[in-house]
This record gives sequence, C-alpha cells and structure tokens, in this order.
Amino acid sequence: MNVWLNGHILPLEKAHISPLDRGFLFGDGIYEVVRFFDRTGMAMDAHIQRLERSLQLTHIKGFNARELPALCEQLLQAENLRDACVYLQITRGVAASRAHMPPENIQPTVFAMAHASGALDTLTTAAPISLSVQPDLRWHRCEIKCTSLMGSILPMLDGRHHNAQEAILIRDGFVSEGSSSNIFVVRANNVITPPIDTDPSILHGTMRTLAMDAARKLGLEVSIRPIEEAELATANEIWVTGSGRVLAGCVALNGKVFGGGKPAKMACAVINGMRLAVENLLAKTP
Ligand code: PDD
Repeated sequence: MNVWLNGHILPLEKAHISPLDRGFLFGDGIYEVVRFFDRTGMAMDAHIQRLERSLQLTHIKGFNARELPALCEQLLQAENLRDACVYLQITRGVAASRAHMPPENIQPTVFAMAHASGALDTLTTAAPISLSVQPDLRWHRCEIKCTSLMGSILPMLDGRHHNAQEAILIRDGFVSEGSSSNIFVVRANNVITPPIDTDPSILHGTMRTLAMDAARKLGLEVSIRPIEEAELATANEIWVTGSGRVLAGCVALNGKVFGGGKPAKMACAVINGMRLAVENLLAKTP
C-alpha cells in the first residue's frame, strides 16, 4: 500500500511520523474523507470549503485546501484505484517538546491514504445499518472536522451490546448527528434533518446536502428542523449519510428491528437519485 506523507508518495512501511507529532500527542489535527467514483470525487468543492474552514478555525497553517483534488488524484493513480475513499489528515506538526501551546512556524504533517470502495452501481439500494441512541458528549465545535474523536468512539462502543454500527447522538433531548454521519428521519412524505449552524454545532456533511438535493428532485418535502429524540421511535425511516456509506437505512434501533428490518422505500429512492447525480457529474467530467 502506498500513502501520501508530506508531499511524497511512499510505501506504508516507509511512512514514519514522530511521536512528538501534535496529532499523536494531543489529537491536534483535522481531516477529510472523500468518496470517489471512477476517479471523480463526490462533492469535491464542498470538501475543499470544509477543509479550508477547519484549517482556518484551528489556525493550522502551511497547507492549501485547494491542493486536495490533485493530492487525491496522485494517490489514486499510485494505488491504481478508481472507486475509493481517500482519507486526508493534517496535524499541526511536530514540536520539540510536549507543550499545549504550539510553537510559532510549526510545519503541518500531511498524511493521506486511499482504500477501495464500491463502484457506482452499488448505489442502487441503501445499505442496511443498525443504530443505537446515545448521549452526545462531544465538545461544542463539531463543525470542525478534527481528529480528536473520543467523543464519537465512546458512544459507538456503548452501542455494541445492541450490535449497532453507528450511534445517533442526543443533545438536550434532540438529535444532533451520528457519531460519524448526519441523520435524517422520514415521516410520511417529509424528510427531516437537523440544522447545522447551531451552537453547539454539527458537521456540515457533504452527503447531507446531496441527499437533500436528491430528495427534493423526487418531489419530497425536505425540512431542516430540530428532531426530538422521541420522534425516532415513531419515524417511518431513519437514514445516516456520510462519505463512506453515502446513505444507509436503519434496520434496527437499540437492538430492536426497525422498519421491517430492511432499508425502506424512500432511502432507496434517494440513494438512486444520488447515483444519477454522480452519473451526470461523470458525464460532464472530461
Ligand atoms: N465522517 N458527522 C460526523 C460527525 C462525521 O464524522 C461525518 C463524516 C459526517 C458526514 O460528513 P460527510 O457527508 O461529508 O462525509 C457527519 C467521516 C466519513 C469519517 O469520520 O470517516
């Protein structure tokens, strides 16, 4: 496996990072995950914008977010992948000693890797997913896609006894987002997702936007409003969206069968709509 480290593509075994890297010591870094179909990145502009924002809000300097597409392209070429997920992580870099306050003029550590994922024709049905409902214990700045993810990992571990693959996080009685996804619920023809620019905030999910666009194209009513925890149990459908899974449909909630145990009608219609949008994008890509 070849990876990207600080401007070079090299075999994973040769990619060494200092233990004094602030990403390792403090989780002082940010990241992006981009899904590629046939070498074309989904929602690439939105990923660049979000990366720019994460860099700006964390004062991590020395990487230009607009380099993202070229970096991904080089990595995909080196790995000979067309359908893949690219993970990019930028930490504040290596300091001479462990101190919370970063030194001036520190150079970021830029690491990226790619792994194969499903081709576009896998987006014909929504993948089934088991969910658990957990308290949202994270900090207030979840619009920053930062690598310190303990607050996302613990709720997933707490949902393991329900065999849940993802946790729906609850803040003050309302759904915030998933531990690594955005959440939608469907009631009749109404597709509902929580707002993003709240305080505390949630991640501005790229697939969230594409799912809303696809739902609107199908003539569904899309509402952005707070979702009460109690609405989950009575929802017709629950979806999670994210660059890895794109859109998955809930088949079990807190260990109990949900929605007949298979991804529901609208989840499948919307993922098909997302597939058509990518097909159109690919048709326009030289
Ligand atoms: N997770 N919310 C959270 C907390 C996330 O971690 C993610 C993505 C999303 C969805 O964002 P997008 O649609 O842009 O992928 C929402 C990635 C995939 C991860 O951590 O691996």
